[in-house]
Amino acid sequence: MKSDAVIPEYTIRQCATLEEYEACLQMQRDVWQFSDLDVTPLRSFVITRRSGGFTMGAFDASNKLFGFAHALAAFDENLRPYYYSQMLAVEPRLQNAGIGVKLKLAQREHAFKTGVPLMTWTFDPLQSRNAYLNIIKLGGVVRRYYVNYYGNKSTSALHRGLDTDRLFVEWWVRSDHVADALAGKRRADKPEAVVEVPRDIEAVKKQDMDEARHWQLHARDGFQKRLSEGLYCAGFEADPNGVSRYLFFRDDQREREESYKQ
Ligand SMILES: CC(C)(COP(=O)(O)OP(=O)(O)OC[C@H]1O[C@@H](n2cnc3c(N)ncnc32)[C@H](O)[C@@H]1OP(=O)(O)O)[C@@H](O)C(=O)NCCC(=O)NCCS
Repeated sequence: MKSDAVIPEYTIRQCATLEEYEACLQMQRDVWQFSDLDVTPLRSFVITRRSGGFTMGAFDASNKLFGFAHALAAFDENLRPYYYSQMLAVEPRLQNAGIGVKLKLAQREHAFKTGVPLMTWTFDPLQSRNAYLNIIKLGGVVRRYYVNYYGNKSTSALHRGLDTDRLFVEWWVRSDHVADALAGKRRADKPEAVVEVPRDIEAVKKQDMDEARHWQLHARDGFQKRLSEGLYCAGFEADPNGVSRYLFFRDDQREREESYKQ
């Protein structure tokens, strides 16, 4: 469902001042409803910029921030560089209007400039909107599933009541797979397996927490089984009326190998 809010003219650029980082703190309170204990503090934003990471912001004409994407500089187990995108947020009244995708594209441009081939982040497998954004619109793929990644003590309204299971997205920014997704193309081959999740987990949680827990266990079992069989998740279908589906394919690791050779 597209937003019908009036979207202001806006530009996307890096946040650089303390006031702009302060605005990112306030957005964390508004979007996740985090208590101050869970808000990533101003010092972390400053340190991130000084250590190779960056924070992209969406600003209106009066320079008010209404969206941001915050990424850390990281190394993989072979000491190859990648970005770990820790947070993506859009002010609630402006969500579903394409701003999230624009922020991710600005991150991709930055990765091009710095020559870093991979951007990663995590998301809750039960959040169908995030799955659609990450896998279909952006071309992210999933090879890892983490059980209760942050534990159960988060103060976020979005995390309440369930374990904080997370999918680890790999976004190989120069890959053909990502270029195809950004051009609106989808994989045409038949998936080897699917895992279903509800289209709107927040509505399920409001009605019946036991059912929400059941969905979490279903997704957890499904992902763990399929990933252990050598499949990876590279597709998603969002049914407007009911369940959404993660699609699994045989993993040839192609984009990983090609990206590091370029
Ligand atoms: C996740 C978030 C950053 C995305 O930003 P956004 O500007 O709303 O995203 P976009 O509008 O670019 O893309 C969202 C897409 O999902 C679609 N969508 C909305 N609800 C959906 C659902 N339940 N299932 C599947 N797709 C859905 C939208 O229609 C849109 O697709 P379209 O452009 O083809 O219509 C934003 O919604 C947000 O701040 N959410 C809360 C915080 C969060 O979850 N952050 C990410 C994890 S760190």
